[in-house]
Amino acid sequence: MAVQTQHVVRAASLADVRKTGCLSVHLDGHTVVLFAYGDQVYAVDNRCPHMGFPLDRGTVRDGILVCHWHHARFDLASGGTFDQWADDVRAFPTEIRDDEVWVDLTPRVDPIEHQCKRLQDGLERNISLVNAKAVISLLEGGVDPAEPFRMGLEFGTRYRREGWGQGLTIHTCMMNLLPYLAPEDRPRALYHGLSAVANNSDGAPPRFLIHPLPTETTDLATLKRWFRHFVEVRDAEGAERCIVSAVRAGADGREMADMLFAAATDHRYLTIGHVLDFTNKAFEALDVVGWEQAELVLTSLVNAYAGADRMEESSQWRTPIDLVELLEAAFEELPAIVQAGKNRREAWSDDGRLVGVLLSDDPKAIVDALVDALSRGCPAERLAGIVTYAAALRIAQFHTSNEFGDWDTALHTFTFANAVQQGLKRIGTPVGDDAYIPLLRGVFDAAMSVYLDRFLNIPAARIPQPNGKAANPPELLNELQAMLDRQQQVNEAGALVAQYLYGGGEPEQLLAMLGRLLLREDRDFHTIQTIEAAFRQYSQRRGTPEGTNVLIAAARYLAAHAPTMRAQGQTFTIAQRLQRGERLFEE
Ligand code: FES
Repeated sequence: MAVQTQHVVRAASLADVRKTGCLSVHLDGHTVVLFAYGDQVYAVDNRCPHMGFPLDRGTVRDGILVCHWHHARFDLASGGTFDQWADDVRAFPTEIRDDEVWVDLTPRVDPIEHQCKRLQDGLERNISLVNAKAVISLLEGGVDPAEPFRMGLEFGTRYRREGWGQGLTIHTCMMNLLPYLAPEDRPRALYHGLSAVANNSDGAPPRFLIHPLPTETTDLATLKRWFRHFVEVRDAEGAERCIVSAVRAGADGREMADMLFAAATDHRYLTIGHVLDFTNKAFEALDVVGWEQAELVLTSLVNAYAGADRMEESSQWRTPIDLVELLEAAFEELPAIVQAGKNRREAWSDDGRLVGVLLSDDPKAIVDALVDALSRGCPAERLAGIVTYAAALRIAQFHTSNEFGDWDTALHTFTFANAVQQGLKRIGTPVGDDAYIPLLRGVFDAAMSVYLDRFLNIPAARIPQPNGKAANPPELLNELQAMLDRQQQVNEAGALVAQYLYGGGEPEQLLAMLGRLLLREDRDFHTIQTIEAAFRQYSQRRGTPEGTNVLIAAARYLAAHAPTMRAQGQTFTIAQRLQRGERLFEE
């Protein structure tokens, strides 16, 4: 191996290396192991790249170095591994001068490029430890978190024939959570997202994209109409061709949101809200990576649309009261109702009373109240926010005597309602443009789902109120950590959050702590969705009693689902310790 650069140091005498065949040495901050093999001396980093076991305890046979811990194998000369979960070990060029061994320590690879390649390996082979190491190294190397996020997004949308699913939703939730987290927790969030994508795509066939229509002569209104028709008849390929043609013809984010959200609300509460929630997340992902990924990302949604469960076909929405019939009657009037409300836009201030109606057990009164709010000028996005808050209250008042699986029911309504609100925000409500009216149907769907969830609050858990007691916020945060080491601290966690916020604790520190407590658990799709939606909703109500209730709901949901085995966190911790140069194999 030729020595090409000047950072060359003397490592040992040739006789000493040959005496034992293997000698470890410390050279300018590196621990290097020298192997005498054949006529040559080879040098590699003494830390196994897998989990740090010392390679001077390994064995060389036929030019292959085997680590004795998990038996990863490396080409002694180049350091290249034959076991992708282990990574290549760094090999150093050597030279013999006058019976002395000299080693070239000059860095030879671009570490950022290398870690990007490793992240791709980790995604392709679903190796969490590789993903963790790569993301830690990339962020410590100053790489913008949007770059590993982009890699995960591209991988997940390209290599899963089914398209957008839980993995990409978790991935986007984690990216959205980053600003709320302490800086040291951000790599862990990205790791969870990337590993969820890899796991969700593992073993799946790739997706082959459909080309756009041959010419760009079809106008957007026609493509939108065709798209809704193809979704109606469950033709995923036809629907995909409409999306890709629209994007290629220059449709922007707002126009595509209008097209997709309209189809996502042509039927009631598709797949218990997941279709609309996934759609919202796909647009949020594009906010991070840029519109140039729109074709790849938005077309990944079509299977969810075409294969969706439609709640018109569920007995719950049909009997004993036909909710669909109630809704369809209201939908027919929506354009006229919205028009009536436009003249009275400033008049609305009845949020509290409306929340009370939403939590009642009379679906007709609920629909009437929504219609009344719109006709009195309540803006669409605000109405969606009120319904989302009512959905959060279902979680805040969820009684622990319910079946455990019922937490999911409450969560689905909450995240769906949140997605409808974010969708309305994205489309906007400009004067003279009623593109958002189809999505307004989602507000009514969310309200019906809040109604259907009423059994979860019978009896209703009491929402903690200000008690006037002095609080020690830092102590309370520590207490929250310890509390979630124990099972089913649901009411206790809610009470603690109330005491913290009503006692003057900094909301940012509470959000960061809740985020940390989420990240230390094994990934649970629904808990991640809850926390992400709750943080977004809190940010719209910061410092208000309503905001406090949203975080009470989030803490209760998290407490109901903690502690887990925390095995995924252990993998990340191993990667972190390796990155810091700690020796894992010692007591
Ligand atoms: S194979 Fe070397 S530490 Fe695992």
